[in-house]
Amino acid sequence: MLRVAETGDTAQRIEAVHKRYDIDPKQVRLVRAPYRICPLGAHIDHQLGTVTAMAIDRAVWLAFAPTPADRRVRLTSRSFAGDVDFALDAVPDRVDGDWGNFPRGAVRALQAAGHDLRCGIVGVTDGGLAEGGLSSSAAIGVAYLLALQAANGLVVAADDNIRLDQAIENGYLGLRNGILDPAAILLSRRDQLTVIDCKSMTHEVVPAGTALLPFRVLIAFSGLRQALVSTDYNRRVGECQQAATALLAASGRVGTQARLGHITQDEYDAHAGVLTGPPSRRAAHVFGEMARVRDGVAAWRRGDTAELGRLMTASGHSSIHNYECGAPPLIDLYDILRTTDGVYGARFSGAGFRGCCVALVAPDAAVDAVASVRRRYARARPELAAEAPVFLCDSDDGARLVAQ
Ligand code: GLA
Repeated sequence: MLRVAETGDTAQRIEAVHKRYDIDPKQVRLVRAPYRICPLGAHIDHQLGTVTAMAIDRAVWLAFAPTPADRRVRLTSRSFAGDVDFALDAVPDRVDGDWGNFPRGAVRALQAAGHDLRCGIVGVTDGGLAEGGLSSSAAIGVAYLLALQAANGLVVAADDNIRLDQAIENGYLGLRNGILDPAAILLSRRDQLTVIDCKSMTHEVVPAGTALLPFRVLIAFSGLRQALVSTDYNRRVGECQQAATALLAASGRVGTQARLGHITQDEYDAHAGVLTGPPSRRAAHVFGEMARVRDGVAAWRRGDTAELGRLMTASGHSSIHNYECGAPPLIDLYDILRTTDGVYGARFSGAGFRGCCVALVAPDAAVDAVASVRRRYARARPELAAEAPVFLCDSDDGARLVAQ
């Protein structure tokens, strides 16, 4: 059963660890790792562009306790079936579709980066929005990283945690994504826009211009659930790299592992004609999206809500027509959202192959907007709408260890 609300409160989370693993409640600690939205910057993180993000006030939780006498990781989940149990010294390989991939990937990433994990953990997780689009993968990956670090007395900078989470996703899970998700989850601050330069790995949290109209974040799930690694996500990344390699050669430069972020706008303008087929459309999306991010950050800074919303909706359009990542039910949702009263702008929240769409909506129209989106999506996709929550949320701070 799909849950929208986080399950239980702090005391229940601590009690769950106590009951399951017979741990003194005083030893239990908590990590809260929020989900994220990306108002602008679709599919340009892996091309080393600049992206925008906010953490939201829905999160993955991990209640855990260190187990110094036992070099194992033992976990249960209140959202997923089955237990996870493995030794720090013999971390098993990935198993498709298994939630244990995230803690195993976190341990492997920490060990590969030279961190000496002497101490395992026991823990119980919860968080019910794993269908995609809000970056549940990075949220839970970051939660395990922070818990393992706390249990082992390791102090790791946010930048390193971004790289470690990327190692879980790129290395252990096999998804060729960029740093948008862990950066958003680790760096965001309530009411600010997190602007992440994926090439230099620098970021800025930007306050909105005073003229920006108040907004709420509307999340609309499609009911489509699928691991991102089994979609066309990696194929699209490859098509972007084909475009980058061709543009680099046309510009008289040589290089391997080219990304579109290595090509200047002038080089693209001069040589876009060498591209054909999918690489041509992917490059058109990426360069268009880089410009929308620049314009969108400027609109946020000066408080131009209408322009910010217009750019989000334009980003959604380009994702559908140039990046061609929109699954039909998500395109239906996008069309419903952008034509709903009170919506400033809407787009796919994550990759667009499954999961959810996001909209910024005027607070006084928000409740009616949710009802209207539910009604219209139920008409458009009755087979999916029953398990496709639509809800409102707000921006929030990034991941942290929470005091009991
Ligand atoms: C997924 C990936 C991110 C990013 C988005 C699309 O959420 O995990 O790295 O590429 O898709 O912008």
